Amino acid sequence: MSISLIVASSDEHFREMIRENLANVPNSKLAAEYPEVSSNLYIRVMQDLERHPEAGLMLDLAGDPESSLKTLEKVKQAVPDLYVIASNYHADGETVIAAVRAGATDFLVQPVKRLEFRDAMGRLERAPKRSLITTSRLGKVYTFLGAKGGVGTTTLAVNFAGVLAQRKQNCVLVDLDWNACDTAMQLGASPQYTLVEVGENLSRLDQALFEGFVTRDPLGFFVVGPPDSLEHHGYFTEPMFHDFANFLVEKYDSVVVDAGRNILDDVTMGALQVSTMIFLVLDQEFPSIRNAQRYLAHLMRMGFQQDQIRILINRYQKKNSAQYASLEQVQQTLNQPVFFGVPPSPAVVAAINKGRPFVADREAAGELDKVFRGFVDKATGAKQPVAKSA
Ligand SMILES: Nc1ncnc2c1ncn2[C@@H]1O[C@H](COP(=O)(O)OP(=O)(O)OP(=O)(O)O)[C@@H](O)[C@H]1O
Ligand SMILES: [Mg+2]
Repeated sequence: MSISLIVASSDEHFREMIRENLANVPNSKLAAEYPEVSSNLYIRVMQDLERHPEAGLMLDLAGDPESSLKTLEKVKQAVPDLYVIASNYHADGETVIAAVRAGATDFLVQPVKRLEFRDAMGRLERAPKRSLITTSRLGKVYTFLGAKGGVGTTTLAVNFAGVLAQRKQNCVLVDLDWNACDTAMQLGASPQYTLVEVGENLSRLDQALFEGFVTRDPLGFFVVGPPDSLEHHGYFTEPMFHDFANFLVEKYDSVVVDAGRNILDDVTMGALQVSTMIFLVLDQEFPSIRNAQRYLAHLMRMGFQQDQIRILINRYQKKNSAQYASLEQVQQTLNQPVFFGVPPSPAVVAAINKGRPFVADREAAGELDKVFRGFVDKATGAKQPVAKSA
């Protein structure tokens, strides 16, 4: 028996207190921690339940009780059998009834007392386990985040979407790199409509409208990104991205995001928060490893868990040399295993020059194509990789 808890609260002290109390409960772990109770919390919860199906949710209502109760309702609609412990400073009848009506299973009054917390964890542990069917309904979100510029984030995202489409997945590639806007370039596309139009039409967005105005790559996936003219994403805000992400994960099997490297951007953070898997892309040179370390530390501070993040080395050099850090050195520095290494290949530049993903021409891409498909297999759990996993 074990206890696994997801905590959502905008109150740092509350989260810290839960962390400390949980550390004293045997066989328990913190599955995820969200520093806010946002309207699309249910997506995050569902993505995290894929990795921690046994987890319960501790939801702090104290920050904004009214909107937190709405959030709780949405979470319970998405996962009706989720065990939710609501928490607030007040435990009067009205507060508790409102929480129960919104779907809470249990209630914990703040400030939380150690004994009461242990009792609550005991009830969670004894509660019937969820059936796992409810979690598989939403699409998966795979986000590629560059630890540095030029490490190959766009290349990997574009080809990942390409392979998923070749595997008949209904897939959307979203480019959130407002500086580079490179996915369209790599795909040889000149989209007429962009995220700006998505933002403008969110209230009436349905699948027909969306597919009618975004570009479809010949491989079958849809692609949408920033406008070609350089402009700030001011018109496409984080709340808009939340709504857009809700639409995408409800309608598509998979969403692939080129997040560029702007980790401090709020829309990028919104994408990271709904991601099933985050690929942190780096090469074996010192500046990118150092930055990867900084990015990981930031993500941990923002409440992400290590198992959400996969370290992906591009242009992976197996041979030891003074120029490149070894796999062991990277793993040691980042304190995390490397998930995969994609080798360098002249086929990448050739494909970019042609304006087509390298996976579109398997013969030309040769060994690179084979290894890359092994990466997609490993990431999606399709089957065990056959070659050169790092
Ligand atoms: N595995 C690889 N082998 C050889 N060249 C590669 C590989 N991956 C990427 N490249 C090359 O590196 C360059 C940068 O790639 P890409 O634009 O995908 O990186 P990025 O991290 O998205 O860059 P930016 O910071 O500009 O967004 C491209 O010219 C591409 O051809
Ligand atoms: Mg790029």
